[in-house]
Amino acid sequence: MEYKNIKLELEDGIAVVTIARPKALNALNTHVINELIHAFEWIDKAAEAKAAILTGEGRAFVAGADISQMKDLDIRDGRDMTLLGQGLMELIETIDKPVIAAVNGFALGGGCEISMACDIRICSEKARFGQPEVNLGIIPGYGGTQRLPRLVGKGMAKYLIMTGEQIDAQEAYRIGLVQKVVPAEELMDQAKAIAETIMAKAPVAIKMAKHAVNNGMNVDLRSGVAYEAEAYTTTFSTKDRTEGMTAFVEKRTPSFENR
Ligand code: CAA
Repeated sequence: MEYKNIKLELEDGIAVVTIARPKALNALNTHVINELIHAFEWIDKAAEAKAAILTGEGRAFVAGADISQMKDLDIRDGRDMTLLGQGLMELIETIDKPVIAAVNGFALGGGCEISMACDIRICSEKARFGQPEVNLGIIPGYGGTQRLPRLVGKGMAKYLIMTGEQIDAQEAYRIGLVQKVVPAEELMDQAKAIAETIMAKAPVAIKMAKHAVNNGMNVDLRSGVAYEAEAYTTTFSTKDRTEGMTAFVEKRTPSFENR
C-alpha cells in the first residue's frame, strides 16, 4: 500500500509511524485510519520491527477525528467511522510489539484517544491534551470514555470529558496521562531511547507483560492474576528465561534470542 497520509520508517528495528497531514493538524479521516491499520498490521507481523513509535508531523500530534468529514455523515456512516476508529485503537493496543506515543503537539479527541491506545505516552512541553467532543454535540468515540478513566481515574476522566478542557503537558503528567515530558527537540530521541531499553529485554516477556496488563484492566482481579500466572508460565518455558537467569548468576549481560 502506498501511503498518502502517513509515513512508515524502520530505524534500527523501530517502526516510526508519522501521521503527516499537517494542514489539517493530522485529523483522522477514514483514509488516515485505513493507512494506520495497514501500517500497524505490518508492524505486528514484521520480524524486523521490534517496537513502534507513533508521532505527528507539524504542530499537532492529532487534533481529533476529521470534523469536516464527520459533519455530513448520516447515522449509519457515523457509526461505521466510530467502529473503524475503535478497531484501529484495539489493533494498536493488542499488537505483540510495544508502541510508544511521542506526542509532539495537540492530542485532542481522537488524538488523545489514539495516544491512549499506545502502551506508553511521552510528550513534548508543547503538547496539549483534551477530549473536546462535547463542544461538537458528541462524545469521545474512539475509546476515550473507557481508556481515559482507566488511565487517570473516573473523576478526572469525567472532568475532562464533560468540560472539554484542554490541559498542558505538565498537567497531563501530573494526572498520569503521560509518563514523561521532554523538551520538543528531544522528543524523538527520548522515545527511541525508551524503545531501545524495552527492545533489550526478552521479547516474549515484553509481549506477555503487555497482554497481562491489558487483559487485567478488562477483568476482575482474580481473573487477571489467573491470566498473569499463565502468561508467567509461558515466559518460564522460553530459552530467554534460562539465559536471563543464567546471565544474572554469572554476572554478565544476557543475550536474548526471542525464543
Ligand atoms: N478535523 C478537521 N480539521 C481540523 C481539525 C479536526 N479535528 N482540527 C483542526 N483542523 C483544521 C482546521 O479546520 C484548519 O483548517 P483550515 O486551515 O483549512 O481552516 C487547520 O486544521 C488548522 O486549525 P486551526 O486554524 O483551528 O488552528 P488553531 O491553532 O487556531 O487551533 C485547535 C488549533 C485548537 C487544535 C483547533 O483546530 C481545534 O479546536 N480543532 C478541533 C479539535 C477537536 O474538536 N477535536 C475533536 C474532534 S471529534 C473526535 O475526535 C471524535 C471522536 O472521538 C471519534
